[in-house]
Amino acid sequence: CGIVGYIGKRDVQPILVNGLSKLEYRGYDSAGIAVLEPGGLEVRKAEGRLANLDGKLKTMPVRGTIGIGHTRWATHGGPSDANSHPHTDMSGAFSIVHNGIIENYLEIKEELVRKGVSFASETDTEVIVHLIADLYDGQLVSTVRRVIRKLQGAYSLGVITQHEPDKLVAVRQASPLVIGAGAGENFIASDISAILEHTKDVYILEDGDVATLTLDRIDIVKGDTGEPVDRKLHRIDWDEEQVQKGPYEHYMLKEIHEQPLTLRNTMAGRIDGGNRIVLPEIPLTEQELQRIEKMYIVACGTAYHAGLVGKFAIESLTRIPVEIDIASEFRYRDPIVSDNTLVIVVSQSGETADTIAALQESQRRGAKVLAVTNVAGSTIARQADYVLATKAGPEIAVASTKAYTAQLLAFELLALYFAQTLRTLDDETRSSLVDGIKQLPHQVEKLLANADEIKWFAESILDRRSVFFIGRGLDYAVALEASLKLKEISYIHSEAYAAGELKHGSLALVEEGTPVIALVTHQQLFEKTVSNIKEAKARGARVMGVTVDGNVELLDSVDEACFIPRTHQLFAPILAVVPMQLLSYYTSLALGNDIDKPRNLAKSVTVE
Ligand code: G6P
Repeated sequence: CGIVGYIGKRDVQPILVNGLSKLEYRGYDSAGIAVLEPGGLEVRKAEGRLANLDGKLKTMPVRGTIGIGHTRWATHGGPSDANSHPHTDMSGAFSIVHNGIIENYLEIKEELVRKGVSFASETDTEVIVHLIADLYDGQLVSTVRRVIRKLQGAYSLGVITQHEPDKLVAVRQASPLVIGAGAGENFIASDISAILEHTKDVYILEDGDVATLTLDRIDIVKGDTGEPVDRKLHRIDWDEEQVQKGPYEHYMLKEIHEQPLTLRNTMAGRIDGGNRIVLPEIPLTEQELQRIEKMYIVACGTAYHAGLVGKFAIESLTRIPVEIDIASEFRYRDPIVSDNTLVIVVSQSGETADTIAALQESQRRGAKVLAVTNVAGSTIARQADYVLATKAGPEIAVASTKAYTAQLLAFELLALYFAQTLRTLDDETRSSLVDGIKQLPHQVEKLLANADEIKWFAESILDRRSVFFIGRGLDYAVALEASLKLKEISYIHSEAYAAGELKHGSLALVEEGTPVIALVTHQQLFEKTVSNIKEAKARGARVMGVTVDGNVELLDSVDEACFIPRTHQLFAPILAVVPMQLLSYYTSLALGNDIDKPRNLAKSVTVE
């Protein structure tokens, strides 16, 4: 879910709606705003996309200079007007927005119902606003502090009341929240993109912080003790322009096309004149690295897929064993992690709840944690022992593209850096690998120049029930990401298989015309994968092969082929995924889907 709030002198409605439009990627099941009008609190909310709320506001506008807004990804209670935030108490004097989950809400609800409170929604959030009304002592901030003592779970909150029309109170607990500082106006938001057009100066709240915003003050205290705390003012270097679509029809297409730039930015300053990798942010010495018996890579979704490539790169260049796990599995697995383990967490947003939990669990077990993340100042960036920043800039489309390739590149740099420190790679080999890295941005540019070529293939899978992606080794890792991309935005069922595994079951699903996309960039495994292609073709599959320039012999075994520029095997995923991203995009475009906001998903999942 996404939260935004404003206190100032300007008309608040457009500020909230605009802010929510930037946060819609965090959820879009419903949206709402609450504004303090001179006559009292006014709330407008609507199920579905923000456009529905916008429509409502055209006929029933709200006027005021203080307000809060919310865009929802449903957890407790389905998407509906009633379950939308902001929620209000029975008197209509208090209003709140919430991101997170209140785990003990049933208990609190029962208690409130016994006291005669009636509930308007099925959400866990509503208990908070009734508690605030119940315990109100004439001081919003002290009341909120007493209320949160009763709450278990995750919550970032924005609270306003008509009893104190000069204040906005905000809370952060295990869900992200930032405060934007302006001149004569202040803001709260789940992330900076929502307020970037107004201010670049932000305070990032820590867990347990309670902030009071007025026109010209921001006071932050510890929720439990009430003691004032000093949080650093960060100046954000993202530009508002980066969160605009520009000439592109969708953010996803814009972000696909930004990849040459984001790869350049991610390698900038990290390669010296002698082709050595420079990562002062990871000051691990040779002795410290030698003590590491095992590494663990932990992440969710696309970031997990990047980790699969990372495992391959680190193992092959350093020979240190690397395990990989999905964060929601790792945290409950009783993982074998000690102070001889280096845990690498990967997260675009830096706010994924399961990944944060995995990080904390690893640190509890004595391991050092290195985070590969795209958002400086995010929870993961702040809690990790080392941070390797991907420089992809803000990624808005729910389906991740440029963050994924930046993560792949970060892993290549990291693997080379470890190998360089441990001296497991001779200088010449390292230097030639680094030369290969330097060519990647230009090679992606070449692929993008031919973006249209993939359109015809996209057309041919529109009416298919199922699509299969196959590959071996690193190609299998890309197949998994390609398949995820396709299902996320086209809603066509797809599966990725290690090419050699297809015959052990799933081949039963291949029939006349079933599209099979075979990734064949691994030179040593070329013949092996071609055999698997033939097995599929013999059952009627229509096969598109993705291989490197020059491998024309593949044309004998496939129906269509797509060629990527030649590169070192380790880097092929960065190139091979680009036509796969475009394939998903054009398929979804032809189907008329909402590409940037696919159904049921959210970009940043801050609940378990
Ligand atoms: C969500 C998004 C995915 C993303 C995953 C992990 O499910 O829809 O695109 O890969 O979260 O997000 P993170 O921010 O941790 O990389």
